[in-house]
Amino acid sequence: MSEGAAKKEEKPRKFQAIRGTRDLLPPETALWNRVEQTARDVFATFGFGEIRPPIFEGTELFARSVGSETDIVSKEMYTFVDRSEKLEPQPVIGGMDVFLQRVKQLYKSGEIPQDEIGLELVEKQWKKVDELLKGASSIESGAIEIYELIMLFEALRLGGDVSLRPEATASVCRAYIEHGMQQLPQPVKLYYMGPMFRRERPQKGRYRQFYQIGAEVLGGSDAPAIDAEVIEMVMTFFDRLELQGVQLDINSIGDRNCRPKYVELLRAELLKVRDKLGADSQRRIETNPLRVLDSKLESEQGIIATLPRIADHLCEECAAHYAAVKHQLEMRGVIYRENWRLVRGLDYYMRTTFEITAQGLGSQNAVCGGGRYDGLVELLGGPPTKGIGFAIGEDRLILSLQESGKAPAQQGRDVYIAWMGEPAHATAIRAAKDLRKAGFSVELPPVEQKFGKALGQADKLGAKYALILGDNEVSEGLWTLKTLADGSQAKFTEPDLLEHLRKQKVLSS
Ligand code: HAM
Repeated sequence: MSEGAAKKEEKPRKFQAIRGTRDLLPPETALWNRVEQTARDVFATFGFGEIRPPIFEGTELFARSVGSETDIVSKEMYTFVDRSEKLEPQPVIGGMDVFLQRVKQLYKSGEIPQDEIGLELVEKQWKKVDELLKGASSIESGAIEIYELIMLFEALRLGGDVSLRPEATASVCRAYIEHGMQQLPQPVKLYYMGPMFRRERPQKGRYRQFYQIGAEVLGGSDAPAIDAEVIEMVMTFFDRLELQGVQLDINSIGDRNCRPKYVELLRAELLKVRDKLGADSQRRIETNPLRVLDSKLESEQGIIATLPRIADHLCEECAAHYAAVKHQLEMRGVIYRENWRLVRGLDYYMRTTFEITAQGLGSQNAVCGGGRYDGLVELLGGPPTKGIGFAIGEDRLILSLQESGKAPAQQGRDVYIAWMGEPAHATAIRAAKDLRKAGFSVELPPVEQKFGKALGQADKLGAKYALILGDNEVSEGLWTLKTLADGSQAKFTEPDLLEHLRKQKVLSS
């Protein structure tokens, strides 16, 4: 078969979005934009500014903050080596120098990460290589050792381990430290929105690329009023969107003083009933007993109900903080439900945790999760810093709004310009420019159409008006405007038309 024939036979591959990812399309994206704009408006009234951290970070950042044992870090991250170079030893003996110089260069420029492995291999071994190269009267005498070192260098990791962000709290804390934000008036209040990545099993409301709208308050005190105000802000936002069936659950999971003791107690109790638990929970007795409380397994519910509750084991300070948070919520008229089983799946939390569910979402009904994380900034190498925040699952928020019919109808065009004839085309282009400048959405067909077809097209696009421009209209300077809803027509001069449309727009908005 000739090459040409083979090419013809090859079926073109159909590309599809990767499992768990999807395209967001109009008209739905209009709702996304409305939701995001509402978040910006509401958050600004609470004094929050926007931060846009990068979408990938060093893997270590997430391992440290979210926790290396959590599902998110241990199973769900998209991690890769950010490699830009290939390091290959020169095959000729005289080429070794060149190769070793290249190693040094790459280390200096950061392409070989300047971490413990890099340091060990490059800085320490380098000296040895130098000595060997200098000392060796002939290359052969040190050849075997040099060869071994080259093998070592070859094993050097080029580029750092990076991960697509599974969440953004870690990035915000990293940025707080990196930019010395502790020097700013405290607390620093930041919000973000954008895609996050977790390799979870896709289902309704659960994607591998999903979107969060989140906010963090960093620095200052851990006053319970801050916890309450952050929660009040999310609730205000949901209220503004008229989200239906909103249910706020809160809990306190204690701090470094009281939680370890409670976890031990819980572990001891769980060991007593180990055989009655499912495989996941059995494993969690060792790794993270708190997560057993999260279990949705029907057969475990009876057992979980009998387990000791953290509220009864909080230290004095944590108990007082929790009581004050509840009081502060009541002062703000925020309705909550206490849920002692709310432990959250990320390691950095302490004291206040909360989750918000909404209607129409099925099993993935958590539309927002958050909590306090004093100590996280310190864990990442910054000064001791208080912190609290939340993240809203935007995909789920949109789903819930759609299911309850709160999604706005698609906005059609304001004006469809039906033009015929070259002179009218020039006028139509000018009219489109003026109408758009005045803020109207205009569809200007690129080629001439018969009026009948143009009106049909205007209808399909949901246009409110058709502006008819033919030879007569252009020569008389009177333009015909057809209202598509009732078919009525009227003639206007150009300035009158603009004025008329403006008035109609004000009336209908
Ligand atoms: P999270 O609970 O892991 O917390 O996620 C927050 C929200 O993101 C969830 O309640 C859910 O609505 C949404 N979400 C999570 N995974 C997916 C997914 N695979 N598909 C669709 N939506 C999803 C955090 O991420 C913390 N960083 C929140 C936080 C900020 N805590 C303090 N500050």
